This record gives sequence, structure tokens and C-alpha cells, in this order.
Amino acid sequence: TWKISNLIEQEIENIRARVGDKQVICGLSGGVDSSVVAALLYRAIGSQLSCIFVDNGLLRKGEADEVEHRFGEHFKTDLHVVDAKDLFLSELKGVVDPQEKRKIIGRLFIEVFQEEAKSIKNAHFLAQGTLYPDVIESGANKDGQAATIKLHHNVGGLPEKLGFELIEPLRELFKDEVRQMGHELGLPDELIYRHPFPGPGLAVRCLGEVTEERLKVLREADVIVIEELHKANLYRKTKQAFAVLLPIRSVGVMGDGRTYEDVAAIRAVETDDFMTANWSPLPHEVLERMSTRITNNVRGINRVVYDISSKPPSTIEWE
Ligand code: XMP
Repeated sequence: TWKISNLIEQEIENIRARVGDKQVICGLSGGVDSSVVAALLYRAIGSQLSCIFVDNGLLRKGEADEVEHRFGEHFKTDLHVVDAKDLFLSELKGVVDPQEKRKIIGRLFIEVFQEEAKSIKNAHFLAQGTLYPDVIESGANKDGQAATIKLHHNVGGLPEKLGFELIEPLRELFKDEVRQMGHELGLPDELIYRHPFPGPGLAVRCLGEVTEERLKVLREADVIVIEELHKANLYRKTKQAFAVLLPIRSVGVMGDGRTYEDVAAIRAVETDDFMTANWSPLPHEVLERMSTRITNNVRGINRVVYDISSKPPSTIEWE
């Protein structure tokens, strides 16, 4: 629309005027906000943008490749992919406490990001995908729910001590405006309408210890949940959906043998603001296809349950 194109033009002018001949760093998470910021900056300043993508080993299937493809090949930004999978997994070894997981992941992310940022010459600015609702929330809600119930962190949560000047071109926008902007900037629908994904990634959906093997199992189950939602044309109606790998095993039967394997839970919610949410009444046929495909194809899972809890009192994520 004209309003969004005007906004883009205006932002591009602002950014160019502010940046001058300095370099801007943008942290990519794979989500829509950081992607829109990067696409906008790329249009404004091209090679003066350097993107950092930390592969923490906790992403969904194919996500790291997608970021490389989009921002390294398609947009040809100066993309720094940091493969930190081993570091994250080794630090998470033996850790089962949800808050502990979050703290470790948050700390490592900052360390890795900061180290990579050092290699970028003339870097002066850090671009972040802060939206209008984040601006309000962080002011009004510093000691509120979100902060105390779960330690939230994401790419937008880098501490100021990193020493860069912030560029936040989405500060006055709501999510749907960010999506429109992404569309105008040529980002594909599957990225623009992607469900939110937490900063600590699959670590908080892999209950109990996070290991490479368990993450692999979880990724396979997760892909099936998402594929079936798309096939049923329910991906957009459902605001967030995913698989959770539970830290318990249960008995099953296969052929004439007994199995003793992991349980996967399917979580799907409908919500406007993610502060409250209702579990999605997914059609039984859809649940059945998810369950059948998971138990038939994902080695290590012999039972699937559906989460019928709303928020509150439950949260959307299980950890
Ligand atoms: P909960 O589980 O608190 O989640 O109902 C509400 C929304 O926030 C997302 N979430 C996170 N996002 N870092 C993030 O960037 C986090 O640590 C985090 N924890 C939860 C969650 O996926 C849901 O969309």
C-alpha cells in the first residue's frame, strides 16, 4: 500500500542520514522482525550492513539454511553465520531446569554475538527489530508477569553495554504493519506469517536434558505438526503450534514387540496478543494425521498427546 511504501522511503532517508559512512550490525534470528529490519537496511545502505546469525543448534529444521539463503544469497548482505552449535549443546549438558536453560542460552548468545561483532570494521550501530508493543511493554511491565514468570530474551534483548548506538526502524509499528513492510521489501509469505519462535528455541520444547539426539527427534515431530497444519489450511488461524518432547517414556507395542519410548505433545493455540491464549480446537482428522505420521515416522516416539490447556493458567510454551 502507499502508506507502507511511503514509510519505507522515509525510513530509508532517515537511516542513510544517520548512518553516514559507518557500518551497521543487525542480528538475524530467522523471525519476521529481524528479517524486515535487515531487508530495510539492506535497501537503505547495502554493503554498509553486516548481519550476524548465531546458529545455536536449537533451531527448527531447515531454519539456519533458510537464513543463509535469504540474506547471504538472495539479498547478498555481508552475512556472518556463527556455528555455535557445539558450544550451546555442551553448556546445556545435564541442565534440566527451565530458567537455568534460558540463562545459559541468553549468556552464550551475547558472548558469541559480541565476539563476532568485533570482527566487523567501522561498526557503530546495532539495528534491532523492536516493535511498538515491545516499547510499551518494556516500560510498563518491567517487573511484571513476562519478566518474572519466564526469563524472556531474544535478539531484541541485547544489553546496551555492547556499546553500539541503536537503530530501531520498527519502533512505531504494529506487527501487521511490519508484515506489510516485509511484503513490500520482497520477503516471502512463509517468512512473513511464520509463527513466533522463542529465543531459547527448541531447548524449552525439549523437556529434560537437551541433547543432539533428542533435538533431532523433536525436529522431526515438529515438521509434521506444521506440515499438517498447512495442509489443513489452519496455519494462519492457529497463531502458534509446535511439538514438545516430554521427559518421560511410555510403553507401546509394535509388531509383536514391546516398545518403551518418548512421548510427544502437540501444542496449538489461538490468541491475539500471546498474553492469554486458548488451545485450538483442531479437527480430529488433523490431529489423527499428525499422530499417525509422528508415531509411524519419527523413531523414538510411540505416543502423542494433545495439550488442551489455555493460558492462563498454562503458558504457551511448556518451559
Ligand atoms: P508463554 O510461554 O510465556 O509465551 O505463554 C508467550 C509467547 O512468548 C514466546 N516466548 C519467548 N520468546 N524468548 C522469546 O523471544 C523467550 O524466552 C520466550 N519464552 C516464550 C512464546 O513462544 C510465545 O509466543
